[in-house]
Amino acid sequence: MANKTLDYENYTILIIDDDSTNLYVLISSLETSGFKVIVANNGELGVKKAQIEQPNLILLDVMMPGIDGFETCRRLKADEKTKEIPVIFMTLLDSNPNKIKGFDVGGVDYVTKPIYHKEVLARITTHLELRDLTVKLNSKVEELTQTRYLMMQQIEELTETRHQLVQSEKMASLGRLVAGFAHEINTPIGVAVGAASTLHENVGTIDQLLEQEEVDEEELVGKLNNIKEAANLTLSNLKRASLLVNRFKNTAINQSEESLRQFQVKSAIFDVINSLHRHFENTVISIQVDCSKELSIHSLCGALEQILTHLMINSLVHGFEAGKKSGSINIVVRLNGDNLHFEYSDTGKGIASEHIENIFEPFFTTDRTHGASGLGLYMCYNIVTTQLRGTITCESSPGKGVLFKIDYPNNIKRYQ
Ligand SMILES: Nc1ncnc2c1ncn2[C@@H]1O[C@H](COP(=O)(O)OP(=O)(O)OP(=O)(O)O)[C@@H](O)[C@H]1O
Ligand SMILES: [Mg+2]
Repeated sequence: MANKTLDYENYTILIIDDDSTNLYVLISSLETSGFKVIVANNGELGVKKAQIEQPNLILLDVMMPGIDGFETCRRLKADEKTKEIPVIFMTLLDSNPNKIKGFDVGGVDYVTKPIYHKEVLARITTHLELRDLTVKLNSKVEELTQTRYLMMQQIEELTETRHQLVQSEKMASLGRLVAGFAHEINTPIGVAVGAASTLHENVGTIDQLLEQEEVDEEELVGKLNNIKEAANLTLSNLKRASLLVNRFKNTAINQSEESLRQFQVKSAIFDVINSLHRHFENTVISIQVDCSKELSIHSLCGALEQILTHLMINSLVHGFEAGKKSGSINIVVRLNGDNLHFEYSDTGKGIASEHIENIFEPFFTTDRTHGASGLGLYMCYNIVTTQLRGTITCESSPGKGVLFKIDYPNNIKRYQ
C-alpha cells in the first residue's frame, strides 16, 4: 500500500479509456481511496474534459478508437490549460517502444494493464507529490523573481538618490569654493580700489596746484607722498589679488598635463627635499625618509612632488612656527599590493580638534594674518582624489604633530 502522505479527497483524476471493464475497476479502486474521479471514453472528449475540469492527474489509455493515447497526450501538452497536468499511460502492451513513445509525447509514467491497484496508487501518489512540489517550487521562483525585481528597483532608487546627493554636495562645495574665493579676493581688491581713488583725488589736487601762479612746494610734496603711498598700496594689493587668482587657478582639477611614467619614489622625495633646502637650512628640523631605493611606481611623479611640497611647507610654517621650533619630519613609503601607501608625519604643534575637519576645505587657514590663503591642503586633496584616484586622511592632536596617510593605486589601468 502506498504511503498516504496526500489527502486524496483534494485531488481529481481524469481517466481516459474506452475499455469499460478497466474503467470500472479503476473508478472503484480510486474512489475507494478517496479520489474524485472523472471519466472520458475517447481521446477528444478527454482533452475537452481536461480543459474544463482541470484534473490533477490523467490516466490515459494508449489504444483507443479515434485519436489514440499518444495523439491525445500531444494535444493535452500543446494546450496552455492542460500542458502541466501529469499524464500516466495505461497500456496492454508491455513493450519498450510504446513506453518510450509515451515519454516522448510528454507522459510522465506508465502502468500496464491489467491494472494492479497498489501499483497505480503508488505511481499516482508519486506524481501528484511531484506536481505539488513543482507548483510550490514555481511559486517560490516567482516570489524570488519578484523580490529580486523589487530589490533591483530599490538599488536603482538608491543609486539615483546617491547620485542626487553627490550632485547636491558638489553644488554645495562649489558654492563654498566660490564664496571663499570671493571673500578672499574682496579684501585686496577693496583696498586697491580705495587706494586708487586716493590716487585719483591727489592727482586732481596736484592739477589744481599747478594751475596756481605760486605753487606751495610743501603741499605739493605732501600730495606726491600721498600718491606714492597709494600707488604702493594699490600695487601690493593687486599683486596679492593676482597671486590668489593664480593659486586658485592651480587648484583646478587636472591642471596638470603631466603624463604617467615609471619613477623611483625615493628619488622623487629627495628632489622635493633638495628643492626646499633653502627653507629648512637655518632650522633645527630633521627629515627622515624610510623608503626602499627600489620602490618604483607607474604614476604621476609631479603630483606626488606637489603634495609633499605642500606638506613640508605646512610643517615648517604651522607645525614648527616658521622654523622657530625644532622637531622632525618622517616620511614612510610602502607598496601594499597594488597600492602605494605614503605616510607623512611631523612632531610639530599639531592641529586643534575643532579644525581637523576643515583642513581640506578651500580657504581654510589659521594663518591668514601672515598671508596664507588656505589652499595648500585643498590642492593636496584634489590631487590625491582626482588625479591619483586615491585617499588622504589626517590624524592629529595639539602638541602631538600631524600624520597624513595617503593611498593610491600604482596602476595605469586604474586611471582610465
Ligand atoms: N603640519 C601642520 N601642523 C600644524 N597645522 C597644520 C599643518 N598642516 C596644516 N595645518 C593646518 O591646516 C591649515 C590648512 O592648511 P593649508 O595648507 O590648506 O593652508 P595654509 O597653509 O594655511 O595656506 P596656504 O597653504 O594656502 O599657504 C593651516 O592653516 C594649519 O592650521
Ligand atoms: Mg599650506
